Amino acid sequence: MTKYIVANFKSHQTGREAQNWLNQFKSAYEPTEGKTVILAPSFTNLWLFQKCLSGVSSPNNPHQDKILLGAQDVSPFPPGAYTGAVSAAQLITHGISYCLVGHSERRKWFHETHQEIANKIRELLDQSITPILCLDQPYQQAQIAALEDGWLKELIIAYEPVEAIGSGRPQNPQAASQIASSLKNLSAQTPVLYGGSVTPQNAADYTTQKSIDGLLVGGISLNPDEFVNLINQA
Ligand code: PGA
Repeated sequence: MTKYIVANFKSHQTGREAQNWLNQFKSAYEPTEGKTVILAPSFTNLWLFQKCLSGVSSPNNPHQDKILLGAQDVSPFPPGAYTGAVSAAQLITHGISYCLVGHSERRKWFHETHQEIANKIRELLDQSITPILCLDQPYQQAQIAALEDGWLKELIIAYEPVEAIGSGRPQNPQAASQIASSLKNLSAQTPVLYGGSVTPQNAADYTTQKSIDGLLVGGISLNPDEFVNLINQA
């Protein structure tokens, strides 16, 4: 199975910073077999990423490098009178094939509920966008219970212990692997990623664990050289 490396830029990067990031990334990145790199910029930079990565962002052409575009969030509603919301149908027009949902920062600062997150997943699946569902142990069961039958095998899970995110204190890889394998017991074919203070130095400690299928990377992804180094190590 491919290893997924997902960059979550959060609400960083002005347009100019995004352009600089893309220039540096494109000169440092060498495509590697067996890795799928997904870049998730802010909504405001999606067009720029789509333009600069055009030719490498189509999931339908196996001969292209696997660099794909993701979004960080989506509306829980279909297109309509929902001011400020970005619908899954709009994401499709930007070449989006993946979308984060239920990141712990969305749960904490935007008070997202398990049901709202489930509604977002429905919108994404309706548009054939793969949801990357972020989970931590305390609410894992309740969140999974809010999903409809059959959804689990259509998404990617990112296991992210909240205390490891942005703290420089990653979870021990063996402990992370145990939790990833318990998630895989629910759906063997669902890829499970680890996220939380991943660096080029510790990336392989996670990706060499049998039950971990990739990484969700925050802080380090903002530095294109470090991010490329991380991809190469993973
Ligand atoms: P971090 O963030 O790599 O900076 O810990 C991970 C995330 O929030 O997805």
